[in-house]
Amino acid sequence: MIKICFVCLGNICRSPMAEFIMKDMVNKAGKGKDFYIVSKATHSENIWRGKGAPIYPPAQRCLKAHGIPFDSEKEAALLEPDDYFDFDYFIGMDKQNLYFMHQTLGGDPAHKIHALMDYTPRGGEVADPWYTRNFERAFADISEGCEALFEALR
Ligand code: 4NP
Repeated sequence: MIKICFVCLGNICRSPMAEFIMKDMVNKAGKGKDFYIVSKATHSENIWRGKGAPIYPPAQRCLKAHGIPFDSEKEAALLEPDDYFDFDYFIGMDKQNLYFMHQTLGGDPAHKIHALMDYTPRGGEVADPWYTRNFERAFADISEGCEALFEALR
């Protein structure tokens, strides 16, 4: 079982998109049982009194438009220090995420922290739709990154 935790700042746009795109990818390849996939936030902006916000509606619409099934009950969850022991891979969307992932998880002695786009030949960061408002572009980046990650794990 390969355990993956996708991470972004708020866990309402990019990392939940990655979670459900990757789940769809491994399921379609008949490998669903080999993976445990979740997503979490570096910051608690979208969590109030322990209750996380749902996936941001434009991100939900984008997943729906691409036929990617997702859990409409999924709530934003905060990355916690103890998570380090429960996952094999922590996959961040941008450089700022990686910085806060290292901060939260207390370093990375087992080399579990990676940037999603570093699995692709072009590298870089997932375009942040919170600022670009371009969910299609984020979807394209995340799909490309997840394909490359899946290929690397095969
Ligand atoms: P995400 O997008 O990190 O892809 O979920 C964001 C969500 C919320 C904020 C920033 C980015 N925010 O500043 O609240």
